[in-house]
Order: sequence, then C-alpha cells, then structure tokens
Amino acid sequence: MSKRIGEPILVTGATGFVGHHLVHWLRKSEIPVRALVRQPSSPAAQKLAATGVELAIGQIGDPASLARAAQGVGAIIHLVAIIRQRGKATYAEVNYRGTLNVIEAAQSARVRRLLHMSALGANPSSPYPYLRSKGLAAEAVRQSGLAYTIFRPSVIFGEGDEFVRLLAAVVKALPIVPIVSSGENRLQPIWIGDVVAAIGHCLTDEATIGQSYDLGGPFPLSYEQIVDTISETLGVHRRKLHLSLPLMQTIAQILDRLLSAPPVTPGLLSLLEIENVASRSATHDLTGRVPLSLPGNIDYVKQITWWEAFRAVAGFGLPKWN
Ligand SMILES: NC(=O)c1ccc[n+]([C@@H]2O[C@H](COP(=O)([O-])OP(=O)(O)OC[C@H]3O[C@@H](n4cnc5c(N)ncnc54)[C@H](OP(=O)(O)O)[C@@H]3O)[C@@H](O)[C@H]2O)c1
Repeated sequence: MSKRIGEPILVTGATGFVGHHLVHWLRKSEIPVRALVRQPSSPAAQKLAATGVELAIGQIGDPASLARAAQGVGAIIHLVAIIRQRGKATYAEVNYRGTLNVIEAAQSARVRRLLHMSALGANPSSPYPYLRSKGLAAEAVRQSGLAYTIFRPSVIFGEGDEFVRLLAAVVKALPIVPIVSSGENRLQPIWIGDVVAAIGHCLTDEATIGQSYDLGGPFPLSYEQIVDTISETLGVHRRKLHLSLPLMQTIAQILDRLLSAPPVTPGLLSLLEIENVASRSATHDLTGRVPLSLPGNIDYVKQITWWEAFRAVAGFGLPKWN
C-alpha cells in the first residue's frame, strides 16, 4: 500500500465470493470497511461484522439505502451483480440499474472514487444478456464523471468460487461429464488473490483513474482442459460426452424450469460458447507478480463431499462456504 486510508471504503457485494476475499484483504491492510448488506443477520454478514466491518443495511435497488451507505466514505468498490436471473432480480435491474444507483449515491455523497467490477467480454452491444448488462453498467461508470477504475476479469477461481466448484461437483457426481460442443473454447482463469491484489493496488494508485483493465491468469485453458484438471485434482477418471450447444440448451431450459439452483442455466451455457481470453491482461502490471495458474491450485475442490456434489447436480446448489 502506498498510502494509508482513513475514511472507510464502501464495498457492495461484500458477502459474495469476490467480496469476502476483498474485505479480508482490506482488513488485513488495516483499511476500514463499510459493507452494504441486505441481510445483516446472515452468517456471511455476521462474519464480516466480527472482523470489524461496519454493516450498512441496504439493497442495490434502493437508492435511499445506497445514499445512506455512501455518506462519509473515501471510495466505493462496487461488486454486486448476478449471473443467474431469478424473478425480479434481472440483469437489467441488478447489474445495470443497480450500478446507476451506485453512481447516483456516489455523486450525491460526493464520493469521488469508484472502483467497478465488470467482466471480460462485457459490451453494451453484446448479444449475451449478462455481458450486455455488464457492458452497459461499465459504460455508465465511464460517463459518470467519477474517478473510476474498471476491472474486467475472466472467470475467477479460488476458495468459495462457483464455476470450478460446480464443475467439480459434476465431475464427482456423474460417471460421464457433459462437455459443451468441442470443449475447445478458451477461458483465462484468474486466481482470486490476484484479482484482490489488483483492486487493492488501484485503490491507492491515482494513475489507474480512468482506466479499464482486462484481468486474466497466466495462460488460457480450454473448457475441456479445465474439466481434465479438476478430474486429476479429484483423482477420478471420467468419460466425457461432447453434446451440441442446442441440445445442452434444451436440457438446461428444462432444468431451469424444474430446479431452484440448476447446475447450469441457458444463459451460463451460452457464455461457454465464446472465448474469454484477455489478449492484454494487466494482472502482472497491477500486482507486480506472475499470476497463479489454475492447474496445481484448486485443491479446495477436494473439500466437496459426495453428498454435496449430488445435491449440487440435483439442483440444490452448493453449500454456502463463508
Ligand atoms: N466470479 C467470477 O468468476 C467473476 C468473473 C468476472 C466478473 N465477476 C464479477 O465480480 C463481481 C462479484 O462476483 P461474485 O462471484 O463475488 O458474485 P457472488 O458470489 O454471487 O456475490 C454477489 C454479491 O452481490 C450481492 N447482491 C446480489 N444481489 C443484490 C441486491 N439486489 N442488493 C444487494 N446486494 C446484492 C450478494 O449479496 P447476498 O449475499 O445477500 O446474496 C453478494 O454479496 C460481479 O460484479 C461479477 O459480475 C465475477
């Protein structure tokens, strides 16, 4: 850290996967944190409070609660977004309108600095609704007049992630692992510790104001290579079945109607169809170190029990990890 920070940092999405790791990093650096939480009595919120985090009760869709939460903070780190739409919680409402609300709260509370979590591939004209909502949100941040920094990570792995742990549950529970079409589509998984370090660096480095950074791990991996790495880590050998995207979409649509937390949704599947590779990853420049690779660093998937794996595949989701 180049500069000590006195005013609290407001973190939205602090109870989520990225938020949990980020808040831990900030607290270790003795930076005061205020977290926007919608359920202060939840175990995740209570864990934050136990580490000295101030809880601000609010919703991303409630501008008044955001305005209160933003009072007197030195910066806002905005993480809230959903990757699965459910009921009123749509990409447009949470990812886009929620970001507009955060911008408005920052402006009215005169908070200059906004660090915004976007995603690699986010684009206002993307045909993929999740990426479109993230692109529109990032564009609003760029137009906000605030001192912004935008992060565009590829898929993030680490203790508590959803992507690798869900795939591990599928590999563990099923004798045959379905692979979307050729399985050659590449992602560039980045370790959560590197994402957090990059955000932490930008919090105090004014040269990062007005910049958008693509964040990737050390090298791209195809979807099938990720499945193979998970199988090796779990010490299991599974047959793989390549299924066309339209067929998998049909299966995912049925699961989406029947299950409350299906292991895959049509929206998530379509994201696997596109390359998610950072041609100009800024991870090394921002963290000052070589990013950690996924192979060799996902031992946490071994913690998933058979029962948890079956439950996840049956649509009951993975257990809350924090
Ligand atoms: N994980 C990845 O691989 C990845 C990759 C690229 C970009 N990103 C971006 O990184 C950010 C964080 O992702 P994540 O993986 O940490 O997600 P996550 O684990 O699902 O956490 C989402 C967070 O948002 C909160 N939230 C959701 N809806 C809300 C609402 N209506 N009002 C207030 N809070 C709400 C959740 O609170 P509750 O605890 O109350 O549910 C939780 O704290 C997102 O912007 C995502 O697009 C993630």
